[in-house]
Amino acid sequence: MAKIIAGVATSHVPAIGAALDLGKTQEPYWQRVFAGYEESKKWIEKVKPDVCIVVFNDHATAFSMDIVPTFALGCAAEFEPADEGWGPRPVPTVHGHPELAAHIAQSVITDEFDLTIVNKMEVDHGLTVPLSLMFGQPKEWPCKIIPLAVNVVLFPPPSGNRCFNLGKAIRKAVESFPEDLRVVVFGTGGMSHQISGPRAGLINSDFDKAFLDGMVNDPKKLTAIKHVDYMREAGAEGIEMVMWLIMRGALDEKVHERYRFYTVPASNTAVGHLILENQELAAAAE
Ligand code: DHB
Ligand code: FE
Repeated sequence: MAKIIAGVATSHVPAIGAALDLGKTQEPYWQRVFAGYEESKKWIEKVKPDVCIVVFNDHATAFSMDIVPTFALGCAAEFEPADEGWGPRPVPTVHGHPELAAHIAQSVITDEFDLTIVNKMEVDHGLTVPLSLMFGQPKEWPCKIIPLAVNVVLFPPPSGNRCFNLGKAIRKAVESFPEDLRVVVFGTGGMSHQISGPRAGLINSDFDKAFLDGMVNDPKKLTAIKHVDYMREAGAEGIEMVMWLIMRGALDEKVHERYRFYTVPASNTAVGHLILENQELAAAAE
């Protein structure tokens, strides 16, 4: 059977992708950020997932304001990197897993989460930057990727609690798929940031660090955070952190914190990153 072995949380700052693509990773400003992912690249190379489910948000790239699905599951065989105004990032095409994605759609929708099924979608920095941070610059991405796009752009986004419960439903779906697959779930976005308005540049490290702790030890507590509190404490775009709760909901109640990294700032954003292992993987690594 397929199983979820671990979760990865990471910011998806677009400037990180630009720094990588333009060969600026050794500049001191960026070196500080990329150094935080060296361990993570080794970890994922060793863990070798067959499939990563990447929870991300589309930034009005694939979906215009005409249609804004709350939860959109990528069921296609391929997803091309999107042109966000400077040409598509020079990264490989993302290969999906249509069979597992269709199975997740059936299971999760039967469990009363009304996912939108997406058979064609370009993927923006929200998805490609986390792949670059974890896998570096390969010719082909080393595993299949199922994108799950969440609306955190147009009010109202889903609640943290809804996201956490969707994660649980995704786990049930994955673990009823008959093929032996090792699956890692990514929650992307965050941490505290605000892109525009009088509070542009806002970063709240106290909130972020408490959120990182909560992700490990007490995610239930995080599910009670309201939109207005994310907005007040973590800035308008801090709401992206609800996507981390989908990943956390898909993991064991008790997880092993394999790795943590936090640095400030990258562009307008605090960069936060966690690797959380389910019990079975953690025990195998001991
Ligand atoms: C920035 C961060 C984001 O998460 C994003 O989606 C866009 C911009 C930034 O820091 O500039
Ligand atoms: Fe974003």
